[in-house]
Amino acid sequence: MLEFDDDGARLIDRAYATPDVVAQRAEVLARLAPRPGERILDVGSGPGFLAASLADAVGPGGVVHGLDPSPSMNGLARARTADRPWVRIDEGDALALPYPDACFDAAVSTQVYEYVPDVAAALAELRRVLRAGGRVVVLDTDWESLVWHTADRALHRRIMAVWDEHLVDPHLPRTLPGHLRRAGFQVTDRALIPLFNPVHDPDTYSAHTMATIGSFVTGRSGVTADDVRAWTADLQARGAEGDYLFSLNRYCFTAVAG
Ligand SMILES: C[S@@+](CC[C@H](N)C(=O)[O-])C[C@H]1O[C@@H](n2cnc3c(N)ncnc32)[C@H](O)[C@@H]1O
Repeated sequence: MLEFDDDGARLIDRAYATPDVVAQRAEVLARLAPRPGERILDVGSGPGFLAASLADAVGPGGVVHGLDPSPSMNGLARARTADRPWVRIDEGDALALPYPDACFDAAVSTQVYEYVPDVAAALAELRRVLRAGGRVVVLDTDWESLVWHTADRALHRRIMAVWDEHLVDPHLPRTLPGHLRRAGFQVTDRALIPLFNPVHDPDTYSAHTMATIGSFVTGRSGVTADDVRAWTADLQARGAEGDYLFSLNRYCFTAVAG
């Protein structure tokens, strides 16, 4: 799996500051519709961008808990939310939430359950800590939705097959509604949030992710540093020649605790 150590956290921090992911967060936030005074949980809060926005929405009369097992991520999140003392960043795991039953009004989790080995158990935990009628928004990626134009398709397929190993389930969204239903949630809304980069611009999700993929796949399953250099050069050449194209779908489910 991808490691969320200092280097991994820094890469995510940069990629998630791009306009692509800023727009995704705005949509997630609008779907969760946090209100002043609410108690909200962000499972797998990572670098804390969403926790900071949630804090602004609930205000000092509310409470936001971000939870993540990565000390590196938690360091970034604590620094990002330091001026909002009603935010707590807790170290912990989605599979054993360190909170009492029914203590949150709403919860959100973006790009996290795809890394969790037992999603059914994690969603049962989420249901436990939400009050009846509590809202939840869950967003994950299906990597089979990826379109990325390269000249060397065979090399690209080899690299992406290894990249699929960076998480537990690269196709989680297709089973998420069923998981949510079985955990005691009623799914009320489904949305597709595409990331679309039709040009090669360094300040895009795909440009940053290219570097993350390259560093993850190097040395795994026979992928060499030369392979990664050739793959990166291929994508950059598409950009220079004006025929770059990247798109990837994220799937967002809104649900209510029954
Ligand atoms: C791709 S990052 C997403 C971070 C954040 N949710 C966001 O969208 O900005 C994935 C995060 O999930 C966290 N994570 C991985 N496994 C987890 C688990 N079992 N429980 C909670 N968080 C987990 C990682 O530490 C990392 O911060």
